[in-house]
Amino acid sequence: MSISNQTVQEYLSTIQAASQLDDLEKIRIELLGKNGILTNALKNLKDLANDERKSQGEHLNIIKNELSTTLQRRLEWLKNEELERNLQSQWVDTTLNHRNQPHGKLHPIHQTMDEVLSYFHNLGFESVEGPHIEDDYYNFTALNIPEIHPARQLMDTFYFPEKRDSRDILLRTHTSNVQIRALSQMKPPLRLVATGRVFRSDYDVTHTPTFHQMECIVIEPNTSMAHLKGCLKAFLQHFFSLDDVALRFRPSFFPFTEPSAEVDISCSRKDGKIILGQKDDWLEILGCGMIHPNVLANCGIDPSMHQGFAFGMGIERIAMLKYGISDLRSFYESDLRWLHHYGFQLLEAANLEPTPKSLFEGMQS
Ligand code: PHE
Repeated sequence: MSISNQTVQEYLSTIQAASQLDDLEKIRIELLGKNGILTNALKNLKDLANDERKSQGEHLNIIKNELSTTLQRRLEWLKNEELERNLQSQWVDTTLNHRNQPHGKLHPIHQTMDEVLSYFHNLGFESVEGPHIEDDYYNFTALNIPEIHPARQLMDTFYFPEKRDSRDILLRTHTSNVQIRALSQMKPPLRLVATGRVFRSDYDVTHTPTFHQMECIVIEPNTSMAHLKGCLKAFLQHFFSLDDVALRFRPSFFPFTEPSAEVDISCSRKDGKIILGQKDDWLEILGCGMIHPNVLANCGIDPSMHQGFAFGMGIERIAMLKYGISDLRSFYESDLRWLHHYGFQLLEAANLEPTPKSLFEGMQS
Protein backbone atom coordinates (compact mmCIF):
# COMPACT_ATOMS: atom_id res chain seq x y z
CA MET A 1 0.00 0.00 0.00
CA SER A 2 1.42 3.35 -0.97
CA ILE A 3 1.22 6.53 1.10
CA SER A 4 -0.09 9.54 -0.75
CA ASN A 5 1.73 12.86 -0.83
CA GLN A 6 -1.30 14.43 0.71
CA THR A 7 -1.14 12.09 3.74
CA VAL A 8 2.55 12.91 4.13
CA GLN A 9 1.83 16.64 4.01
CA GLU A 10 -0.90 16.26 6.59
CA TYR A 11 1.39 14.39 8.94
CA LEU A 12 4.15 16.97 8.46
CA SER A 13 1.84 19.80 9.44
CA THR A 14 0.39 17.88 12.41
CA ILE A 15 3.96 17.31 13.66
CA GLN A 16 4.83 21.00 13.24
CA ALA A 17 1.69 21.97 15.11
CA ALA A 18 2.15 19.52 18.02
CA SER A 19 2.52 21.39 21.27
CA GLN A 20 2.91 18.44 23.65
CA LEU A 21 5.61 15.78 23.84
CA ASP A 22 2.84 13.19 24.36
CA ASP A 23 1.11 14.15 21.09
CA LEU A 24 4.39 13.86 19.25
CA GLU A 25 4.95 10.40 20.68
CA LYS A 26 1.46 9.32 19.53
CA ILE A 27 2.25 10.46 15.99
CA ARG A 28 5.58 8.63 16.07
CA ILE A 29 3.84 5.39 17.06
CA GLU A 30 1.15 5.89 14.42
CA LEU A 31 3.83 6.22 11.74
CA LEU A 32 6.83 4.25 12.89
CA GLY A 33 5.60 2.05 15.78
CA LYS A 34 5.37 -1.74 15.45
CA ASN A 35 2.05 -1.42 13.58
CA GLY A 36 2.75 2.02 12.18
CA ILE A 37 1.62 3.05 8.69
CA LEU A 38 5.18 3.41 7.44
CA THR A 39 6.38 0.27 9.17
CA ASN A 40 3.60 -1.76 7.57
CA ALA A 41 4.14 -0.22 4.14
CA LEU A 42 7.81 -1.13 4.34
CA LYS A 43 6.92 -4.67 5.48
CA ASN A 44 4.52 -5.08 2.54
CA LEU A 45 7.23 -4.24 0.01
CA LYS A 46 8.23 -7.88 -0.13
CA ASP A 47 4.91 -8.82 -1.75
CA LEU A 48 5.42 -6.45 -4.67
CA ALA A 49 6.90 -7.24 -8.06
CA ASN A 50 10.58 -6.39 -8.47
CA ASP A 51 10.24 -3.06 -10.32
CA GLU A 52 7.41 -1.90 -8.20
CA ARG A 53 9.29 -2.85 -5.03
CA LYS A 54 12.30 -0.79 -6.07
CA SER A 55 10.40 2.42 -6.86
CA GLN A 56 8.06 2.06 -3.85
CA GLY A 57 11.02 1.30 -1.62
CA GLU A 58 12.85 4.46 -2.64
CA HIS A 59 9.70 6.52 -2.25
CA LEU A 60 8.92 5.11 1.18
CA ASN A 61 12.48 5.67 2.43
CA ILE A 62 12.39 9.32 1.37
CA ILE A 63 9.08 9.76 3.20
CA LYS A 64 10.41 7.92 6.23
CA ASN A 65 13.49 10.15 6.39
CA GLU A 66 11.51 13.32 6.03
CA LEU A 67 8.98 12.35 8.67
CA SER A 68 11.53 11.11 11.21
CA THR A 69 13.73 14.21 10.81
CA THR A 70 10.74 16.46 11.26
CA LEU A 71 9.63 14.46 14.29
CA GLN A 72 13.12 14.68 15.81
CA ARG A 73 13.37 18.45 15.24
CA ARG A 74 9.99 19.10 16.75
CA LEU A 75 10.89 16.89 19.72
CA GLU A 76 14.02 18.91 20.41
CA TRP A 77 12.18 22.15 19.99
CA LEU A 78 9.49 21.12 22.48
CA LYS A 79 12.11 19.91 24.97
CA ASN A 80 13.98 23.20 24.78
CA GLU A 81 10.77 25.06 25.24
CA GLU A 82 9.95 22.98 28.30
CA LEU A 83 13.41 23.65 29.75
CA GLU A 84 12.98 27.38 29.18
CA ARG A 85 9.59 27.27 30.89
CA ASN A 86 11.10 25.43 33.89
CA LEU A 87 13.99 27.87 34.11
CA GLN A 88 11.54 30.73 34.18
CA SER A 89 9.22 29.23 36.78
CA GLN A 90 11.68 27.39 39.06
CA TRP A 91 14.56 29.86 39.46
CA VAL A 92 16.55 29.97 42.67
CA ASP A 93 17.48 33.23 44.32
CA THR A 94 21.12 32.62 45.10
CA THR A 95 21.38 36.00 46.82
CA LEU A 96 19.11 34.93 49.70
CA ASN A 97 20.80 34.28 53.06
CA HIS A 98 21.33 30.61 53.79
CA ARG A 99 19.72 29.06 56.83
CA ASN A 100 22.05 29.33 59.77
CA GLN A 101 23.53 25.93 60.61
CA PRO A 102 25.36 25.94 63.91
CA HIS A 103 28.66 24.17 63.50
CA GLY A 104 31.21 23.09 66.03
CA LYS A 105 34.66 24.46 66.65
CA LEU A 106 37.94 22.79 67.25
CA HIS A 107 39.10 22.86 70.87
CA PRO A 108 42.31 24.91 71.39
CA ILE A 109 44.06 21.78 72.72
CA HIS A 110 43.28 19.93 69.51
CA GLN A 111 44.38 22.89 67.42
CA THR A 112 47.65 23.24 69.37
CA MET A 113 48.47 19.53 69.06
CA ASP A 114 47.81 19.75 65.31
CA GLU A 115 50.12 22.75 65.02
CA VAL A 116 52.87 20.88 66.89
CA LEU A 117 52.48 17.76 64.74
CA SER A 118 52.36 19.71 61.53
CA TYR A 119 55.56 21.64 62.40
CA PHE A 120 57.51 18.50 63.24
CA HIS A 121 56.17 16.55 60.26
CA ASN A 122 57.67 19.22 58.07
CA LEU A 123 61.03 18.56 59.74
CA GLY A 124 60.77 14.87 58.89
CA PHE A 125 59.47 13.63 62.25
CA GLU A 126 57.12 10.66 62.24
CA SER A 127 54.17 10.92 64.60
CA VAL A 128 53.48 8.09 67.01
CA GLU A 129 51.04 7.56 69.84
CA GLY A 130 50.98 5.43 72.96
CA PRO A 131 48.16 4.25 75.23
CA HIS A 132 46.58 6.22 78.09
CA ILE A 133 46.27 3.05 80.17
CA GLU A 134 49.82 1.93 80.72
CA ASP A 135 51.76 -0.33 83.02
CA ASP A 136 54.48 0.74 85.42
CA TYR A 137 57.20 -0.78 83.22
CA TYR A 138 56.60 1.64 80.31
CA ASN A 139 55.64 4.61 82.46
CA PHE A 140 58.37 4.26 85.11
CA THR A 141 60.71 1.27 85.25
CA ALA A 142 62.10 1.30 81.72
CA LEU A 143 62.46 5.09 82.01
CA ASN A 144 64.99 4.50 84.76
CA ILE A 145 62.56 5.74 87.42
CA PRO A 146 63.37 3.76 90.58
CA GLU A 147 60.81 1.93 92.73
CA ILE A 148 61.14 4.50 95.49
CA HIS A 149 60.64 7.54 93.25
CA PRO A 150 57.95 9.90 94.65
CA ALA A 151 56.16 10.15 91.28
CA ARG A 152 55.16 6.51 91.68
CA GLN A 153 53.25 7.20 94.86
CA LEU A 154 49.52 6.62 95.07
CA MET A 155 48.98 10.27 95.87
CA ASP A 156 50.50 11.29 92.52
CA THR A 157 49.47 8.57 90.09
CA PHE A 158 46.09 6.97 89.31
CA TYR A 159 46.44 3.17 89.64
CA PHE A 160 43.92 0.52 88.63
CA PRO A 161 43.05 -2.08 91.23
CA GLU A 162 44.08 -5.03 89.04
CA LYS A 163 47.52 -5.97 87.67
CA ARG A 164 48.59 -7.04 84.16
CA ASP A 165 51.31 -9.70 83.88
CA SER A 166 52.08 -8.92 87.54
CA ARG A 167 52.72 -5.27 86.63
CA ASP A 168 50.80 -2.35 88.12
CA ILE A 169 48.37 -0.71 85.70
CA LEU A 170 48.00 3.05 85.77
CA LEU A 171 46.99 6.11 83.76
CA ARG A 172 50.18 7.35 82.15
CA THR A 173 51.64 10.34 83.96
CA HIS A 174 53.55 11.67 80.95
CA THR A 175 54.02 11.02 77.22
CA SER A 176 57.51 9.65 77.93
CA ASN A 177 55.97 6.15 77.81
CA VAL A 178 56.12 6.57 74.00
CA GLN A 179 59.91 6.76 74.29
CA ILE A 180 60.00 3.19 75.60
CA ARG A 181 57.37 1.88 73.22
CA ALA A 182 59.02 3.51 70.22
CA LEU A 183 62.61 2.62 71.07
CA SER A 184 61.65 -1.01 71.76
CA GLN A 185 59.89 -1.35 68.42
CA MET A 186 61.80 0.90 66.03
CA LYS A 187 65.45 1.08 65.06
CA PRO A 188 67.52 4.29 65.04
CA PRO A 189 67.94 6.66 63.28
CA LEU A 190 64.65 8.07 64.57
CA ARG A 191 62.82 11.38 64.63
CA LEU A 192 59.53 10.98 66.45
CA VAL A 193 56.84 13.27 67.76
CA ALA A 194 53.93 12.29 70.01
CA THR A 195 51.09 14.30 71.50
CA GLY A 196 48.43 13.10 73.90
CA ARG A 197 46.62 13.10 77.17
CA VAL A 198 48.30 12.41 80.52
CA PHE A 199 46.96 12.07 84.07
CA ARG A 200 48.13 13.08 87.54
CA SER A 201 46.41 13.22 90.85
CA ASP A 202 46.47 17.00 91.18
CA TYR A 203 43.91 19.76 91.30
CA ASP A 204 44.46 23.46 91.92
CA VAL A 205 44.68 26.69 89.90
CA THR A 206 47.66 25.50 87.90
CA HIS A 207 47.07 21.72 87.93
CA THR A 208 44.27 19.53 86.61
CA PRO A 209 43.99 15.73 86.93
CA THR A 210 44.27 15.40 83.17
CA PHE A 211 46.23 17.51 80.72
CA HIS A 212 48.18 17.08 77.50
CA GLN A 213 51.82 16.83 76.55
CA MET A 214 53.94 16.63 73.46
CA GLU A 215 57.17 14.69 73.29
CA CYS A 216 59.95 14.57 70.71
CA ILE A 217 62.66 11.95 70.40
CA VAL A 218 65.65 12.15 68.07
CA ILE A 219 68.35 9.50 67.76
CA GLU A 220 70.66 10.12 64.85
CA PRO A 221 74.42 9.78 64.47
CA ASN A 222 76.16 12.39 66.66
CA THR A 223 72.90 13.95 67.94
CA SER A 224 73.91 16.41 70.67
CA MET A 225 72.57 19.01 73.11
CA ALA A 226 73.34 21.60 70.42
CA HIS A 227 70.84 19.92 68.09
CA LEU A 228 68.34 19.84 70.92
CA LYS A 229 68.75 23.56 71.50
CA GLY A 230 68.53 24.37 67.78
CA CYS A 231 65.42 22.25 67.40
CA LEU A 232 63.69 23.86 70.41
CA LYS A 233 64.58 27.39 69.36
CA ALA A 234 63.30 26.85 65.83
CA PHE A 235 60.07 25.29 67.06
CA LEU A 236 59.35 27.93 69.72
CA GLN A 237 60.06 30.81 67.36
CA HIS A 238 57.76 29.28 64.78
CA PHE A 239 55.00 28.34 67.22
CA PHE A 240 54.90 31.77 68.89
CA SER A 241 55.58 33.65 65.62
CA LEU A 242 58.65 35.38 67.06
CA ASP A 243 61.68 36.50 65.06
CA ASP A 244 63.96 35.63 67.92
CA VAL A 245 63.59 34.00 71.28
CA ALA A 246 66.25 33.49 73.93
CA LEU A 247 66.33 30.15 75.72
CA ARG A 248 67.90 29.40 79.08
CA PHE A 249 68.90 25.83 79.84
CA ARG A 250 68.84 25.26 83.61
CA PRO A 251 70.54 22.05 84.75
CA SER A 252 67.86 19.78 86.16
CA PHE A 253 67.15 16.14 86.82
CA PHE A 254 64.98 13.56 85.10
CA PRO A 255 65.83 9.89 85.69
CA PHE A 256 65.44 9.19 81.94
CA THR A 257 67.77 11.91 80.59
CA GLU A 258 71.40 12.72 81.35
CA PRO A 259 72.31 15.52 81.30
CA SER A 260 68.84 16.99 81.90
CA ALA A 261 67.66 20.54 81.65
CA GLU A 262 64.61 22.64 82.22
CA VAL A 263 64.23 25.26 79.55
CA ASP A 264 63.06 28.81 80.13
CA ILE A 265 61.89 31.10 77.36
CA SER A 266 62.63 34.85 77.47
CA CYS A 267 59.73 37.12 78.26
CA SER A 268 58.64 40.20 80.11
CA ARG A 269 55.87 40.54 82.68
CA LYS A 270 53.81 43.69 82.82
CA ASP A 271 50.66 44.07 84.95
CA GLY A 272 50.44 40.32 85.28
CA LYS A 273 50.69 39.87 81.50
CA ILE A 274 53.44 37.75 79.96
CA ILE A 275 54.94 38.94 76.68
CA LEU A 276 57.14 36.31 75.07
CA GLY A 277 60.31 37.15 73.20
CA GLN A 278 61.20 40.20 75.30
CA LYS A 279 64.31 39.75 77.33
CA ASP A 280 63.96 40.91 80.90
CA ASP A 281 62.53 37.78 82.49
CA TRP A 282 62.22 34.00 82.05
CA LEU A 283 59.39 31.52 81.97
CA GLU A 284 59.85 27.79 82.44
CA ILE A 285 58.35 25.95 79.53
CA LEU A 286 59.67 22.39 79.14
CA GLY A 287 61.91 19.54 80.27
CA CYS A 288 64.54 17.86 78.13
CA GLY A 289 67.90 16.12 77.98
CA MET A 290 70.01 13.48 76.32
CA ILE A 291 68.30 10.10 76.56
CA HIS A 292 69.83 8.20 79.48
CA PRO A 293 72.05 5.23 78.46
CA ASN A 294 69.99 3.00 80.77
CA VAL A 295 66.82 3.88 78.84
CA LEU A 296 68.48 2.99 75.53
CA ALA A 297 69.78 -0.28 76.99
CA ASN A 298 66.32 -1.11 78.43
CA CYS A 299 64.95 -0.84 74.90
CA GLY A 300 67.64 -3.00 73.34
CA ILE A 301 69.60 -0.10 71.81
CA ASP A 302 73.35 -0.13 72.42
CA PRO A 303 74.23 3.13 74.25
CA SER A 304 77.84 2.91 73.14
CA MET A 305 76.64 3.18 69.52
CA HIS A 306 73.67 5.54 69.77
CA GLN A 307 72.73 8.74 71.50
CA GLY A 308 69.84 11.13 71.18
CA PHE A 309 67.72 13.76 72.84
CA ALA A 310 64.16 13.95 74.12
CA PHE A 311 61.97 16.78 75.29
CA GLY A 312 58.46 17.12 76.64
CA MET A 313 56.16 20.10 76.89
CA GLY A 314 52.69 20.85 78.27
CA ILE A 315 50.18 21.51 75.47
CA GLU A 316 47.87 23.62 77.65
CA ARG A 317 50.84 25.67 78.77
CA ILE A 318 51.90 26.69 75.27
CA ALA A 319 48.26 27.09 74.16
CA MET A 320 47.59 29.47 77.08
CA LEU A 321 50.65 31.53 76.21
CA LYS A 322 49.87 31.67 72.50
CA TYR A 323 46.12 32.26 72.66
CA GLY A 324 45.91 34.36 75.83
CA ILE A 325 43.89 31.84 77.85
CA SER A 326 44.31 32.67 81.53
CA ASP A 327 42.70 29.81 83.47
CA LEU A 328 43.92 26.24 82.96
CA ARG A 329 40.68 24.79 84.30
CA SER A 330 38.61 26.50 81.61
CA PHE A 331 39.96 23.98 79.06
CA TYR A 332 37.90 21.22 80.66
CA GLU A 333 34.70 22.99 81.67
CA SER A 334 32.96 22.32 78.33
CA ASP A 335 31.48 25.81 78.35
CA LEU A 336 30.20 26.38 74.82
CA ARG A 337 30.58 30.15 75.13
CA TRP A 338 34.26 29.64 75.98
CA LEU A 339 34.70 27.19 73.11
CA HIS A 340 32.96 29.56 70.72
CA HIS A 341 35.39 32.29 71.73
CA TYR A 342 38.65 30.34 71.89
CA GLY A 343 37.85 27.50 69.45
CA PHE A 344 38.99 27.28 65.84
CA GLN A 345 37.07 26.93 62.61
CA LEU A 346 37.81 23.59 61.04
CA LEU A 347 39.15 25.33 57.95
CA GLU A 348 41.75 27.18 60.02
CA ALA A 349 42.92 23.93 61.54
CA ALA A 350 46.15 22.33 60.48
CA ASN A 351 44.07 19.21 60.47
CA LEU A 352 45.43 17.37 57.49
CA GLU A 353 48.10 15.35 59.22
CA PRO A 354 48.41 11.59 58.77
CA THR A 355 47.14 9.41 61.61
CA PRO A 356 49.94 8.67 64.08
CA LYS A 357 51.46 5.21 64.10
CA SER A 358 50.14 3.34 67.13
CA LEU A 359 52.70 1.93 69.52
CA PHE A 360 50.29 -0.32 71.36
CA GLU A 361 52.22 -3.51 70.63
CA GLY A 362 52.46 -5.96 73.50
CA MET A 363 49.23 -4.70 75.08
CA GLN A 364 46.35 -6.89 76.08
CA SER A 365 42.89 -5.49 75.74
N1 PHE B 1 58.34 13.57 81.04
C1 PHE B 1 58.80 14.83 81.59
C2 PHE B 1 57.66 15.45 82.38
O1 PHE B 1 56.55 15.01 82.30
C3 PHE B 1 59.24 15.77 80.52
C4 PHE B 1 60.46 15.28 79.78
C5 PHE B 1 60.31 14.62 78.58
C6 PHE B 1 61.73 15.51 80.28
C7 PHE B 1 61.42 14.17 77.87
C8 PHE B 1 62.85 15.09 79.59
C9 PHE B 1 62.70 14.43 78.41
O2 PHE B 1 57.84 16.41 83.09
